[in-house]
Amino acid sequence: MKVKQFALLNPQVESPIDNREWGTFKDSLRAPIHNWFTYPAGFSYKAVESSIGIHEILKGATIYDPFMGSGTTNLVAKKLSINSYGVEAHPFVFRITRTKINWEVDRDEVVAALKKIENQVKRRKENFNEYHVTTYLGSEFPELVLKCYEPKTLLDLFFIRNSIISGNYSQGVKDIFFVGLTSILRQVSTAATGWPYIAPKKQKTTSLNKIAFVEFARQINKMVSDIEVTVDEADKNFRKSSHKIFNADSRYTQDLIPTASVDHVFTSPPYLNNFDYADRTRLELYFWGEAKTWGDISEKIRTKLITSATTQISRNDPKYELSKGLQESCPDVYDFLRRATAQLGEARLIHGGKKSYDHLVSGYFNDMFLIISEVYRVLKNNTVAVFVLGDSAPYGVHIPTDDLIGKIGLGAGFSDYKINVLRARGEKWKENPQRHDVKLRESIVTLVKA
Ligand SMILES: C[S@@+](CC[C@H](N)C(=O)[O-])C[C@H]1O[C@@H](n2cnc3c(N)ncnc32)[C@H](O)[C@@H]1O
Repeated sequence: MKVKQFALLNPQVESPIDNREWGTFKDSLRAPIHNWFTYPAGFSYKAVESSIGIHEILKGATIYDPFMGSGTTNLVAKKLSINSYGVEAHPFVFRITRTKINWEVDRDEVVAALKKIENQVKRRKENFNEYHVTTYLGSEFPELVLKCYEPKTLLDLFFIRNSIISGNYSQGVKDIFFVGLTSILRQVSTAATGWPYIAPKKQKTTSLNKIAFVEFARQINKMVSDIEVTVDEADKNFRKSSHKIFNADSRYTQDLIPTASVDHVFTSPPYLNNFDYADRTRLELYFWGEAKTWGDISEKIRTKLITSATTQISRNDPKYELSKGLQESCPDVYDFLRRATAQLGEARLIHGGKKSYDHLVSGYFNDMFLIISEVYRVLKNNTVAVFVLGDSAPYGVHIPTDDLIGKIGLGAGFSDYKINVLRARGEKWKENPQRHDVKLRESIVTLVKA
């Protein structure tokens, strides 16, 4: 489909740099602690290390990630004895990070508690009448969870879960078990748990003979030894560094992070690609009993995140009109978005799905304006904020997110910005005739505070 594209004035794009995987989680999947939870929205720990090197951020300085996710920035900082702040709005993802940056858990307590859980699970299984297993589990879990497991595996997972919840352990040890059990949930599932959504109809036969407790114990032992390896490799002063992380909304950090207290920001916001972060954790939230329905997930998670998916939008809500703040501080961005969203509003009426991309785009940039203004406030002078992000082309209308974020930065007070292109995106869809032919990219946007 060909759609008329609007051009922004003077996009400041520099030549590509040779680090294609920085915006992906691939490197982190091979690194101890980083790989405790597979977060496809996460970036490479090497990107953080590199930015710290390039911008000469030294021990004792402070780095901030307003979209902390699974804590990649904070973990790297801790290893290098750099202080950190992190804000993450998704409560489940926040708990993952809290666990990953706590290297002070008591190894002996973990080992003793694991033995206790093993005994409890054994006892519960001995006293359980297998005949009723399906009815029993059916009253505990939503349909989606039931479809993802063989009953005997789900029963084991359920007994382990209950032992963890009812056990009288320290918070650090409970967190380790919480992340350990979470990280095997997809491994032991017989559903081909595709990313980003679950497709329980296909069967993954490699999981058929896995015993949940064996996988769980293996994972807990790996986590304990990952901490030991990381502590050994870390800068010897890492214990003196401080890491303040908040389960909060980075649009509003006035009470959390002091003005002019941060030396570097390294972050990756949700991309404008209609990815639903709440849905990514649906299996996990249902399993832990933290949500039971789509409505629960909306209330507990979707409403707390910045606008980045059409599933968050209610068309009558005025917050999806471009804001006054954005109009006053960034008039060129406002003009561009006004035209682009009008075009998306028209496109919506002729497409079957009638997706609210018009409101998605307005809501996204309203929110990014608030966050970039907060980032500007907390940074010291002579520093930079680095954003790893991707652009998008909903209904074929190109939204050059990198350039818009750069210009919003100028409106928020930054003196300059530059863009480095990391790689082309959307290649895997290119054979799809329904797909637009706009070339997409992943970029690094660096905002300079003079
Ligand atoms: C691209 S991910 C960042 C991943 C991270 N770099 C990592 O390596 O794990 C963006 C994150 O922003 C979070 N988020 C969305 N809205 C937020 C808000 N208002 N405040 C703080 N975090 C938010 C999402 O839940 C998601 O985890």
